[in-house]
Amino acid sequence: MRLGMIVAMDLDGVIGRDSDLPWHLPADLKHFKDTTMGCPMIMGRRTYDAIGRPLPGRTSVVLTRDDEWYVPGVEIVNSIAEALDIAGIDAGADGWAWVIGGGAIYAALLPHCEQLLVTHVEARVEGDTWFPYIDWDQWVEVSREEHPVNDKNTIASAVATYERA
Ligand SMILES: NC(=O)c1ccc[n+]([C@@H]2O[C@H](COP(=O)([O-])OP(=O)(O)OC[C@H]3O[C@@H](n4cnc5c(N)ncnc54)[C@H](OP(=O)(O)O)[C@@H]3O)[C@@H](O)[C@H]2O)c1
Repeated sequence: MRLGMIVAMDLDGVIGRDSDLPWHLPADLKHFKDTTMGCPMIMGRRTYDAIGRPLPGRTSVVLTRDDEWYVPGVEIVNSIAEALDIAGIDAGADGWAWVIGGGAIYAALLPHCEQLLVTHVEARVEGDTWFPYIDWDQWVEVSREEHPVNDKNTIASAVATYERA
């Protein structure tokens, strides 16, 4: 399995507010869908609750410490090791699996990832959840795609791909 992380953050690393995303960016939702389609996605239980359903065409691997939490149609796991095992089985040896958040899960799985897909949202927004500390010297930007403001996307953003330096 090849493990990547996909995240959108503002200029200060804000990723969430009130259990939701702090922005509505259709271009980024499309980028998320195109990237993750057909791949297992590892997420925390709070992020699953924010999404509210298993997304079609992708295995949802949901981390929780609550033994009684149950939702049909998702892979429920209680440890990082178990999440990696299940995602690895589904992705196969050469396939990608994506860590899709939120803050707690990004922090736990960053050391395991070989690629980061970061949507840099070109704004400063109010928030209550941040991307964890990252040593950017350990990563090199290999591509960047700009998404300017348009009638559907009211904040400019750029999707950058980082690989380990
Ligand atoms: N901007 C983005 O790209 C992006 C992406 C995803 C999410 N978000 C935002 O981020 C926020 C949610 O992030 P969050 O940090 O609060 O929550 P989270 O990371 O989504 O989920 C945290 C939960 O995961 C479970 N968990 C964490 N570590 C675990 C471990 N080692 N073993 C087993 N279970 C574990 C626990 O669930 P239990 O409490 O059930 O035990 C914990 O409460 C929301 O606002 C969401 O919209 C933003």
